[in-house]
This record gives sequence, C-alpha cells and structure tokens, in this order.
Amino acid sequence: MLLLALETSCDETSAAVVRDGTVLANVVSSQFQLHAEYGGVVPELATREHLRNLLPVTHAALREAGVTPSQVEAFAATRGPGLPNALMTGFTAAQAMAFASRRPFLGIHHHEAHLYSPWIAGHPPRADFAAFEPNVSLIVSGGHTMLVHVRGAFDHIVLGSTLDDAAGECFDKTAKLIGLPYPGGPQMDRLAAEGNPRAFDFPRPLLREENDDFSFAGLKTSVLYFLRKNPGLTDDGQRIRDLCASVQAAIIETLVTKTMRAARRLGVRCVTASGGVTCNRALRRDLLAACERAGLSLRLAEQSLCTDNAAMIGIVAERKLLGSAAGTDLDAEIEPGWGLEDADGRQLAAKP
Ligand code: KG4
Ligand code: ZN
Repeated sequence: MLLLALETSCDETSAAVVRDGTVLANVVSSQFQLHAEYGGVVPELATREHLRNLLPVTHAALREAGVTPSQVEAFAATRGPGLPNALMTGFTAAQAMAFASRRPFLGIHHHEAHLYSPWIAGHPPRADFAAFEPNVSLIVSGGHTMLVHVRGAFDHIVLGSTLDDAAGECFDKTAKLIGLPYPGGPQMDRLAAEGNPRAFDFPRPLLREENDDFSFAGLKTSVLYFLRKNPGLTDDGQRIRDLCASVQAAIIETLVTKTMRAARRLGVRCVTASGGVTCNRALRRDLLAACERAGLSLRLAEQSLCTDNAAMIGIVAERKLLGSAAGTDLDAEIEPGWGLEDADGRQLAAKP
C-alpha cells in the first residue's frame, strides 16, 4: 500500500511516504531555530510555520519517493496528543487529500507511533515487525516520559508516566537555567560528554519507589537552588560541563533503573526506547550496558526516527489499515489530550 503520512503535533513539520513497510521518503522541517529566540515552543508561531511548510514538505516527500499524488492509496496524520492548532494543520490537510482523492484516512496516536518506531531499521528504513517480541518500552520526549508494557503488536498498557515535567523538559529547563540555548537536550549531551558526572550530587527522583512513575520537577528546582548558591559557576567552562554531566547522570540513572526494574518484574526479554531524548548518547550507552548485564535485547529507535517524524506515523498507519482498522471519519476531530490506552490499540490490532 502506498501511503502518505503527515506529522505536525509540535514543532516539526514532517511528511513521509511508505510502501509495504518501507519508508520511501521522510522529510522533516524542524522549527527549533524559530522557537530558540523564545526559549521554548510558541504554539501560535508553530501553527503558522506548519501552514507555511506543509505543502513544500509534502511535495518534497512525494518527489523523493518518486510518486505522484494520484498514486497515493491512503493518507494518515497524527491525531493527538499535541498542540491543538498545530495538530489541526496536518490532520485537516490529510483529511482533505483523502476526501479529494476518495482514499482511506487514518488518524494516529503520536505515542503509539513512537512506541513502534524502534522496529523501523535499515537503509532504506523498513518495519521489522517479524522480529517483534514483547517488551518494556521507554518513551522519552519533550512532552512525555512513560513506561509501557508492549505485550504484542498493538497490544500495550501504560505502566507509569511522569507526574510533572518530562525528561526532555527537564533537560531543556535545566539547560535554560545554565544559560544554554533551546533546545537544551542536545547541548547538555554535547557538554556532558566532557564533564564529570560525579562532580555534583543531584536527586534521583522516585528511584526507590516501587512504581513506574517519574518526577523531574524537583531535580530542576534543585539545579535552580544549586546555581543560586554557586553564582560564579557558570563563568567556568569546565564547571558547566561538570554540571551538565551531573544533571544528565541523574536523569539517565532514573530512566535506566526504572526501565530495567519494570522489565525484570514483567519477565520480558526485550527493552525498547524512543522519543527525542533517546538521541542522548549517554542514555543509549547506559541502556545498552544495563541490558547486556541483564541478558536482555535492546532496540533503540534510530537517531533520525527518535525526534518527531512522519515515517513512524506512516508505518503504524499502513500496518493498521492492512489489518482490521477501519479508517477515521473525514469529519473526525483532533484529540490534543489523547491517552495512549484510549487509542484502542487492541481493537484495531493488525496481526503480528
Ligand atoms: O520527541 P521529540 O522530538 O518531541 C516531542 O514529542 O516532545 O523530543 C524533543 C525533546 C526535547 O526536549 C530535546 O531537548 C530532547 O528531545 N532531546 C535530547 C537530545 N536530543 C533531543 N535530550 C537529551 N539529549 C539529546 N541528545
Ligand atoms: Zn514525539
């Protein structure tokens, strides 16, 4: 099936073309430079930028895939969760294209797409669902941090999530306190590589608690107080690198420990991770080391598929449409606050 997918839930405008489980094109236009000036995503600006970018990005994806619009057999778009107006741009555009060409349309849950993105691999990227095995999955993005038990393909339950800030948000907010540009995650990653992670001791929130929830707001506050107590520290390049390494270590130890504990408790043989923070090199390295020690296999989303992209939307949409999924109505609305379990993975399940 030749499918065109759009993703506009936050600050990336993306269009992808997939066919029979292979990503033929995945074009992403990131708006981070636009929002950097404001230190975070400004929803109104994001919406306008999506409207400006949607057609060029869609044309670029079709061109790269070597297909014409009339060849597209189905359309998909992110339905939620995300910024309401941003979601509306891609969702409505895909509905309009489906209406005009009388082809099926499917709205996709953004986190469901992240959840299965570790199974897309290779050049060109291909869905490797034949290798699928039940797993515990860590989704870590700018807006969400959650642990999910994936019992079968499109059969998953949320184990826990963040009670306040997401891991990516914690990276971004602490980076801002240190004076680093937005988005802070990649900057922290770069500086932390040359710092001492044991230089300063920051709290590992909820680490000892026997649940699968996270909380990162306290860590951010302790960095704020730390900087107030040590006002000259940000003038010293090496101390900044040590601080970045120490904050990153606190975030990563929490993520890795809780993921491994859930995997052990549920008896799965596989761990997966996805979402923007999965780009973090120390997280990738530490998760790998922990899985090797525990004798578990690890599937990390490829770097280009960690941050928001339409390829993961397209792969999940095609899988569902080829299975038993009914299309989404052409007058259906976006779901900005959609819960992962409400996405009804089981009823719409394609055969693994
Ligand atoms: O998944 P994503 O593109 O957008 C959301 O759906 O939120 O994730 C963006 C988040 C940002 O918070 C960004 O700082 C973080 O991912 N991020 C990183 C790295 N690259 C991106 N955090 C830590 N280390 C990185 N290398
Ligand atoms: Zn995302």
